[in-house]
Amino acid sequence: MKIAIASDHAAVEERLALVEHLRSRGHDVTDFGCERGESVDYPDYAALAANAVAEGKAERGILICGTGIGICMAAGKVNGIRAATLSDPWSAEMTRRHNDANVACFGARIHSAKAIQRMADVFLETTFDGGRHTDRVAKIMALEKGQPVPS
Ligand code: RB5
Repeated sequence: MKIAIASDHAAVEERLALVEHLRSRGHDVTDFGCERGESVDYPDYAALAANAVAEGKAERGILICGTGIGICMAAGKVNGIRAATLSDPWSAEMTRRHNDANVACFGARIHSAKAIQRMADVFLETTFDGGRHTDRVAKIMALEKGQPVPS
């Protein structure tokens, strides 16, 4: 799968370990940084990976910052992105099955590199359930466009 990855300075080691892990599993990973040793603003890196997903250059995005929260807030502002901060493998599974999330966000100051890899694997391997969830996801996307929520 084509995956766009980025992190801020709080998560460089965890991101590099995840890139290696995903490539070893056959994924086509584009790593948008940041570089080791620089202090950056997480919205800039959220935008790089989220735009790649929104433009169809990557199927999924993975973002890591200290908490997984700020970078997720930023990614969620990009049209077409459904980003979720994940805390455990079950939330990784459910946000794919029910929300059709296309960007997963992790906190490197909360979870170990191995825990992030496990959650990322579940996120990438799980498909959307569709059915009743299709209309709910459509309502999320209507909100994004400032349109009335479909009844
Ligand atoms: C950076 O210090 C930190 O604020 C950032 O990584 C993230 O946790 C923001 O939500």
